[in-house]
Amino acid sequence: MIVLGIESSCDDTGVALYSSEHGLLAHQVHAQNAIHAPYGGVVPELASRDHIRVALPLIHELLASTGLSPKAIQGVAYTKGPGLAGSLLVGSLLARSLAYAWGCPSIGVHHLEGHLLAPMLENPQPSFPFLGLLVSGGHTLIIAVKALGEYEILGETLDDAVGEAFDKTAKLLGLGYPGGAKLAELAKLFVAPVSGAPALNFPRPMTDRPGLDFSFSGLKTHVAVEFKKQTALLGELPESHKIAIAHAFETAAVDTLLIKIKRALAQTGYTQLVISGGVSANIQLRTKIAELSQHHQICAYFPRFEFCTDNGAMIAYVGCQRLLRGEQDGLDLTIHPRWPLNSL
Ligand code: KG4
Ligand code: ZN
Repeated sequence: MIVLGIESSCDDTGVALYSSEHGLLAHQVHAQNAIHAPYGGVVPELASRDHIRVALPLIHELLASTGLSPKAIQGVAYTKGPGLAGSLLVGSLLARSLAYAWGCPSIGVHHLEGHLLAPMLENPQPSFPFLGLLVSGGHTLIIAVKALGEYEILGETLDDAVGEAFDKTAKLLGLGYPGGAKLAELAKLFVAPVSGAPALNFPRPMTDRPGLDFSFSGLKTHVAVEFKKQTALLGELPESHKIAIAHAFETAAVDTLLIKIKRALAQTGYTQLVISGGVSANIQLRTKIAELSQHHQICAYFPRFEFCTDNGAMIAYVGCQRLLRGEQDGLDLTIHPRWPLNSL
């Protein structure tokens, strides 16, 4: 079965073709960063308008790159939620119109299920059951993944998502939007504490109490207080000071994730770990998870870098699995801007 996947939950338009026989055939992503950067965040109305503008030409390009005709497509999957209502509507209307015109079924996919199963596009791939750590701009979740569609949430953030904390810290340091990856680039330049200054050590929030929940807003505030303190002393901060702050923040955020993941592995006894979502592209996180997997004899799986952030491939993959199970859309046209993963 060949499935077209369309992702349009936020500010990236992703399209892909996935074959149950041959795997991923092709994919394309159009990012809207340049449109939203002047506003310091995603502007929903501008996002949906851009999806309308680019989605269909992107699908044309995708088909042309594989030489496939629409007749070869046996299903159309799209992101049904969670996400921005206007953006979700564009993808769902387009997907359902194409499926109707091509005489094939369509299926709405949960965006987080897409992220969680993105490592299934790699080789080797995990097998059920496994522990999932989903770290993105909107979510921080530890999930017991028992089977396709069977997800038990073991821990989640009580306030900011870890990606959001990266983005807000990046904004504070003047790195622009979206700043998570830029902050990580800056942190990489760290070699030693600023001369004459004590090494920065930000707190690992909620690790001193039991449980698997997270809270990142306090960490963000700690960084802001330190930044103000240094700025009051020095004025515009030299690069070395910004690098030290970025590194201390990244280390605290990554260590917090690691502490909770170790706890969740001990609690569940799972030996496979999947890390996905935008923050799974972070090198310090990947390095520390690799060390953890060596010491604790577990297998860790990540998506390839381009599939850490939003993409159509993960939606095409999940859609294909669900269509193969006989699921498909009914006659109603619904999107779910808010949609808990454990309600699937
Ligand atoms: O999964 P995603 O594309 O969007 C959501 O569904 O939220 O994740 C985007 C998030 C942003 O917060 C971005 O700053 C963060 O992932 N991110 C990173 C890195 N690359 C992207 N955070 C830390 N290190 C990175 N290298
Ligand atoms: Zn996402």
